[in-house]
Amino acid sequence: MMNPVDGTGFSRESTAEVVTKLRCRNIWKIYGQRPDKALATALGGSEPPLTLKRRLEETGHFLALADVSFDVQQGEIFVVMGLSGSGKSTLVRCLSRLVEPTSGEVWLGGENLLAASERRMVEVRRKVMGMVFQNFGLLPHLDVLDNVAFPLRMQGMPPADRTAKARDMIELVGLRGRENSMPLELSGGQQQRVGIARSLAVDPELWFLDEPFSALDPLIRRQMQDEFLRLQQLLQKTIVFITHDIQEAFRLADRIAIMREGRIIQIGRPADILLTPVDAYVASFTEEVSLAKVVTAGSVMAKLPGNWDASRGHEVDAATPIEMLLPRSLAGTQTFVITREGEGPVGLLTSEIIAKVLANDTAQRVVR
Ligand SMILES: Nc1ncnc2c1ncn2[C@@H]1O[C@H](COP(=O)(O)OP(=O)(O)OP(=O)(O)O)[C@@H](O)[C@H]1O
Ligand SMILES: [Mg+2]
Repeated sequence: MMNPVDGTGFSRESTAEVVTKLRCRNIWKIYGQRPDKALATALGGSEPPLTLKRRLEETGHFLALADVSFDVQQGEIFVVMGLSGSGKSTLVRCLSRLVEPTSGEVWLGGENLLAASERRMVEVRRKVMGMVFQNFGLLPHLDVLDNVAFPLRMQGMPPADRTAKARDMIELVGLRGRENSMPLELSGGQQQRVGIARSLAVDPELWFLDEPFSALDPLIRRQMQDEFLRLQQLLQKTIVFITHDIQEAFRLADRIAIMREGRIIQIGRPADILLTPVDAYVASFTEEVSLAKVVTAGSVMAKLPGNWDASRGHEVDAATPIEMLLPRSLAGTQTFVITREGEGPVGLLTSEIIAKVLANDTAQRVVR
């Protein structure tokens, strides 16, 4: 079971060394006249979250984030998922201090960003962080090339260099030939590609995307998700991706944080969220998700016994969805040996585990 507070237990489907890139501790954001005083009350008491929220509201305060802590590992896609108003945008803005947290710590390597000067923050936002917004946020009077080159211009990069870099980014997102189009001449999906190219132009170490695909229709949305995964394969950024769409969360995430009323109520790999939801609220999100499709062999495998004879069993790559193993499991294969490229056998998957995953699926269908 994941620890929802510090996010330990992290295990991407690779044993590559885990390096924490961004560390958030006890972030609170209270809107209103006297947020500090309201926070002191909040910290002093031991009320259940919802009572606290209501009590703060009585004094004209709004509790947007309450004691949020998590780590994001280098190269990880960390998805923050929650209903509208749960605090997702507030959270991602607190990370770059576009919204000032009432209290907490945001560590980028050895630096607490909440203690950094405004000047330093401008530098961090320009050079370290890339951001993509739901409404694209393009500059309407600039063409595609100038939009993408804009953050480089802000950095003071000479024109020839920034044009060359912007062209590379435009190529990367598949918009070659549209350099001189104006934003309004582009479809929503194309505009968001420009937004993505622009956010990547500065080679950010941290890439924040706040519901980047929400405005797109389902088909385009899926294409953009594929495109995003392709880019990430290539670029290996450290990503915080916000969405209110559980399907999107499950397609993209290495880990998912589920938010409710300003709090993170569970952090885990997609399989953890599906198989061991902390409560009925989290479980209700996943009702629409087909376990067999999203749960991979590597995410539910058991440990290899110490005395494992490597020559035994059917080998299957860790990224294989359970669904793909079903026919062989039904045909009598009891045990699959899970392998990873370059690592050999890393775990075992029994037909019993497969049956468990599927049973969960069926139970959900019956409830619906
Ligand atoms: N400046 C503000 N003053 C008071 N309350 C605010 C302010 N900004 C945001 N809020 C409140 O904080 C809560 C969280 O807002 P936030 O935008 O973070 O939600 P969200 O999860 O991103 O929602 P959505 O999915 O709709 O984008 C909302 O209820 C919002 O009304
Ligand atoms: Mg939002």
